[in-house]
Formats: sequence, structure tokens, C-alpha cells
Amino acid sequence: MKDLISLHDLTSNEVKNLLSLGLKLKDELKKGIPHPILKGKTLGMIFTKSSTRTRVSFEVGMTQLGGYPLFLSSNDIQLGRGETIHDTAKVLERYLDGIMIRTYAHSDVIELAEEADIPVINALTDLLHPCQVLADLMTAYEHKGKLEGLKFAYIGDGNNMAHSIMYGCAKVGVNCAIATPDDYQCDAGVVENAKEDFKSSSAELLLTNDPEKAIAGADIVYTDTWVSMGMEAEKAERQRVFMPYQVNKALFEKAAEDAIFMHCLPAYRGFEVTEDVIDGPQSVIFDEAENRLHAQKAVMATLMG
Ligand code: CP
Ligand code: NVA
Repeated sequence: MKDLISLHDLTSNEVKNLLSLGLKLKDELKKGIPHPILKGKTLGMIFTKSSTRTRVSFEVGMTQLGGYPLFLSSNDIQLGRGETIHDTAKVLERYLDGIMIRTYAHSDVIELAEEADIPVINALTDLLHPCQVLADLMTAYEHKGKLEGLKFAYIGDGNNMAHSIMYGCAKVGVNCAIATPDDYQCDAGVVENAKEDFKSSSAELLLTNDPEKAIAGADIVYTDTWVSMGMEAEKAERQRVFMPYQVNKALFEKAAEDAIFMHCLPAYRGFEVTEDVIDGPQSVIFDEAENRLHAQKAVMATLMG
């Protein structure tokens, strides 16, 4: 395991090991036990999209591991002015011990990882958001005491979150149901890979356009913004098409009685989710946000330690 580009690339055991290490590092942090696993190491953090959680959790996580996080906005580095990914990779590997990147094209992250001799961590592309799903699975485990056999329902856009959730669920034996409008289904290539992953898993994958079918009896209910970064021009049309997929009280009540509500954030109340659900007693959104820190520390410690 050199990089973290997609959970599809990892074995079931590699995913489970990252989750247990995340839980261990969280426990140590709470007990005040230092873990300077990355003392003297530097992580370059390339951002071509906005971020609150990812930037702060990676910076704080690297600091807690004894290393140094270096924020590299694409507005400030030559990559943003047309320097190639190849040259950027070849230069950065001479200075850094790892690179975290958030960008648009998934192929750019794959290229960076192929060209750089140091670990590359995908911190969100248009296609995938693996770090988020590690934090989500960790959170589900903490609230449910297990993962295998649970039902995870994702309602909304067939986007980077939906894709990574499918991959993540397959690796840990969580049944996964995804409900999207017909014109906003998941990427066909990702679905094909996910179906392969589910074949060697104890869990099942359901893809539907019916949110009630997806949410029925679910232990985890998840949604994400209808307007991902880069899709702002489609905002009005998306808000119209997605309204029947809103996670509101009436829909949420069709999940298991003790279901938890999750959202990667940032959330847009009154659109993909209503206030009574996201701010209600079954919402665990801030536990998820916290677990970004612990799960990513596990990723960095594993890849760079
Ligand atoms: N969930 C998530 O990745 O949040 P940011 O965009 O704030 O990093
Ligand atoms: N799907 C969202 C996730 C944000 C964390 C986006 O790509 O903007």
C-alpha cells in the first residue's frame, strides 16, 4: 500500500487495519499519550478546491504525529500556472515525505501517485473521497458496535461520496443501498468495480431510483450536497430534480428506529436534508467530522511511518 487513491485498491484487511489504527490513535489522544510516529516528516497538501475539514484535520493530524504540514494552494504553486504533474511530482518527492491532494480530475491524482516515489493521499476528487468514508465507517462502528451486516443507505447525487461509500461498504461487509435520480446515477465504471468488490463480500449492493426502498430499515442514513464543487452552474436545475430525494423526517422515519444520520458536510439545510434530521438526536455529523482527524492520522502513519 503506497498510496490512498481509492478504497477499491485496498484489501478488506487494509481497510479494517486503518479503522482500528484510527480508533487506537483516537484513544491515545484522548488519554494524552503522545504518538510522534511522523517526527521530522513533512506532508505537502495541494488544494485546488476549497476545504474546511480536510485542511484543518490533515494539518492538525500531521502536527499531532510530530510532523509538519505544508499547505500548497494551487493559486500559489506553479501547478496552477501549467507546470506538469510529472515535473511537480519529481520536484516535490525531493523535499516531502508525502503528498495530500484535493482536486477535480481523478486522473490527475492517479498520475501524481504514479510519478511520485512518495505516498499520495486522495483528499477528494470529482470521482472519490476515500478519507471521508474511512471516518464515516469509524463513526458507524463507534455508534453501532459493529459494521458487518449493517445497512447503509445513501440518498441523493451519484457523486464522489456515493462512489466511495459503495467501495468502503464492500470492504467491511456493510449492505449498501444507493438511491439517485435516473439522470444522476453513479459512474458506470465505479459501479462495475463495486459490484466486483461486493461479490467477495458478505454484503449486498442495491442501486435504485426509489429513496424509500433504499432507506427501508437502514442503520445508517447518509446524504450529501446536491451541488458538488465545480457544479455550481447546475445549481437551480439540481435543486429542482433532487427535491424528492430530500432526507426529511418523513423519509428518515422509514429507516431503522435507532438509525444514525450522517453527512460529510458542508450541508445545505432545507435542500438535501431538513433541520429536524441533521440537527436531531440521531445525527452524528460532528462525530464524523472529528473522526476525519483520527482516520487520516491512521492513513498517514501507515503510508509515511
Ligand atoms: N467533508 C469534507 O471533505 O469537508 P471539507 O470540504 O470542508 O474539507
Ligand atoms: N460531494 C461534495 C463533497 C464535499 C466534501 C463535493 O465534491 O463538493
